[in-house]
Amino acid sequence: MQTKTERAAHIAGRTQGAGRTMRELTEEERVEIERDAGLPQLDARELIDADHLEDAIKEMYTEVAENPGGDFHFLTGRSLAESLGYEPAVLAQIPGEAIDSFAGVGFYFDLAGLAEGEEVVDLGSGSGTDLFYAAVQVGASGHVTGIDMTDAQLAKARRLRDAHGFAQVELVESRIERLPIESASVDCVVSNGVINLAPDKESVFREAARILRPGGRLALADIVSGRPLVGRTRRNTDLWAACIGGAVPQESYVEAIEAAGLTVGEIRENDYDFLTDRALQACDKYGVASVSLIASK
Ligand SMILES: C[S@@+](CC[C@H](N)C(=O)[O-])C[C@H]1O[C@@H](n2cnc3c(N)ncnc32)[C@H](O)[C@@H]1O
Repeated sequence: MQTKTERAAHIAGRTQGAGRTMRELTEEERVEIERDAGLPQLDARELIDADHLEDAIKEMYTEVAENPGGDFHFLTGRSLAESLGYEPAVLAQIPGEAIDSFAGVGFYFDLAGLAEGEEVVDLGSGSGTDLFYAAVQVGASGHVTGIDMTDAQLAKARRLRDAHGFAQVELVESRIERLPIESASVDCVVSNGVINLAPDKESVFREAARILRPGGRLALADIVSGRPLVGRTRRNTDLWAACIGGAVPQESYVEAIEAAGLTVGEIRENDYDFLTDRALQACDKYGVASVSLIASK
């Protein structure tokens, strides 16, 4: 059995590009972080009002779908996708309106290694950049199911699917904590910038592991932290909806994936920047950052 320190070193050793810098804490900050470190990380439903959070997330992502040129706490659109590593040749094959509303935090399709004919599920598919990107790779003989809870995102992705002839794409309204998908039926689960938003991350990983076939993969990009966030930051619904408040330490995140029955392989840090001062301060204080990773069943 590994000690916590050995485990942390092991996780850090697998993280390419790690070396995330966090500033030194003041004594007052150190005391507050230590005091709150025992608060639940992966299942934070007792910290935050889940219904209020769901409303805030839906409000924000309705705006991302309907008014992609608006001001957000995070970057959006084609230049973000290209800067993260999405291939222009593949982007050229997917609807431009989906890319306008792209709000991912990293690239992971090289880790996913999708093949023709595969069955894929995208957790939090938004307006569809990741969904259609996956659909191009699995081709007409494959199948990609996008799961989302925001009506405007689902409506936009369905409209673009129909207008651009992506018959292999299906969109399902659901929370990602309970997937209306058969067990052991999926080759690859993908997700981009979503799981940090879920108050109950253990259920999300348990569900992802349940629907994967033996040998199936979970490939994702998401926001994690280097230190546990203090309770008052984690209880702030706006910061949570902005992909900061729900970030848990990378070590806990990886442990939850493995506790769900998956084996985590490569983890790498992405060159992803937040926009607002508040978000940048959180990056500095807590080492909040984007990572991409691959895990297998
Ligand atoms: C960062 S965006 C996803 C970006 C998307 N991958 C893309 O290609 O643009 C987050 C999406 O996740 C959805 N979402 C957040 N939490 C969710 C949950 N618990 N269940 C279902 N959907 C969720 C939001 O409605 C939103 O559309």
